[in-house]
Amino acid sequence: KTNRTFTMIKPDAVANGHIGAIVDKITKSGFKIIALKYTFLTPEKAGQFYEVHAARPFYKDLVSFMSSGPIVAAILEKDNAIEDFRKLIGATDPSKAEEGTIRNLFAKSIDANAVHGSDSDENAEIEGSFFFSAFEKF
Ligand code: CMP
Repeated sequence: KTNRTFTMIKPDAVANGHIGAIVDKITKSGFKIIALKYTFLTPEKAGQFYEVHAARPFYKDLVSFMSSGPIVAAILEKDNAIEDFRKLIGATDPSKAEEGTIRNLFAKSIDANAVHGSDSDENAEIEGSFFFSAFEKF
C-alpha cells in the first residue's frame, strides 16, 4: 500500500555536502517528494522531536548533535514507504549498515548517522506534522 515516511538529512550529512547525493538516491529509489525544506532544530525543538527518547542515555548527545547545524526535512511517498526507506538507509549504527545504504555511504557514527527515517505510519505522520503545515503536506 502507498504510504508516507518522514526523513531528515542530519547536520553531519548537510555539513559534509551530501544533500544532493542523498536526495538523488532517495528519488532514484522510487520515493516521491511530497514536501522538502532546509531548516534547523534549536535545542528545544530537537528535545521535543526526540521526546520519546528522553529517558535514554544517548538523549542529551542526540539533542545537542541534532541542533548543531542545519538539516533537511522531507515527507516521502511510495508503496511500502516505511519499510523500504529503512532498508534504503541501513542500520542505525553505520558500522552495521549494509553496503550501498545511505548510512553505509555517508554516516560516521551512531549519532552522526546522516539520516533519520520514521519507524511507523503513526510516527511518520507525527514527525511530518512537526515540520510541515497541513497545506504543505497536502
Ligand atoms: P534516529 O533514527 O534519528 O532516532 C534516534 C537517534 O538516536 C538515532 O537515529 C541515532 O542517531 C541516535 N542514537 C544514539 N545512540 C543510539 C542508540 N544506542 N540506539 C539508538 N539510537 C541511538
